Amino acid sequence: MEDAKRPIGVFDSGVGGISVLRALVSLMPNENYIYFGDSLHAPYGSKRLQEVRALTEQHVTHLLEAGAKAIVVACNTATSADISILRARYPHIPMIGIEPAVKPAVLSKEHPKVLVLGTPMTIHQEKFARLLEKYEGSAKIYTQPCPGLVEYVERGELTGTGIEQFLRKLLAPYIEEKVDAAVLGCTHYPFVAEMIQKILGDQVALYEGGPGTARETKRRLAQGNLLNPSKEEGVVRFENSDLTPEKLRLCQFLLHV
Ligand code: DGL
Repeated sequence: MEDAKRPIGVFDSGVGGISVLRALVSLMPNENYIYFGDSLHAPYGSKRLQEVRALTEQHVTHLLEAGAKAIVVACNTATSADISILRARYPHIPMIGIEPAVKPAVLSKEHPKVLVLGTPMTIHQEKFARLLEKYEGSAKIYTQPCPGLVEYVERGELTGTGIEQFLRKLLAPYIEEKVDAAVLGCTHYPFVAEMIQKILGDQVALYEGGPGTARETKRRLAQGNLLNPSKEEGVVRFENSDLTPEKLRLCQFLLHV
């Protein structure tokens, strides 16, 4: 197949990366996509680094074998663990990662207190420490790992008392601290953004990395002459290591919320 017509491979530990996929589809509706979610092994955020690297590399190999012209690692955890290794291994493939949207949260508006939510692995990685170092002079930054939150999203439990109580407990200290902005530093979290907003209050600005990652993907494809010239709407194919009918329904639902 002509290079530009090949699909974009999008990968996450589960259904979370669909928050990036929806930004990609909205920006480039004429592209074709293969979305692979590794729900069988989610959450990645509390696994060992070597394990996350091995799983990530296995799924990227699969997407490339399936004909992907570019890879979007739509997972902050896998990006922080493996993106430099992947870029070195596949120097000729556009390899786009995602990182917590700290930069826009700190610089786009005056936000003296910024909360960053992420998985335990993302928050403890060297890459994240370097990101924080850059912006620590401009805002007071609080970091909060959220073990357990990904599982709610994987179950499709986005509303209701269970998730509300979980988030109220997790976020209570930051209501007290009166944070000005919160970064949803895991691709699963935008699906519970409404609940987070309700708990923190409307005055708190929320940031997610999906739209920026989609813009970067478009830029990299254009640079490599890989944008699909077709004027027709592209196709999204969902693959999952645990593709039950419920999971497929959840994937399709999340793409349109
Ligand atoms: N959605 C992923 C992220 O952006 C990882 C969630 C997990 O599996 O722990 O970090």
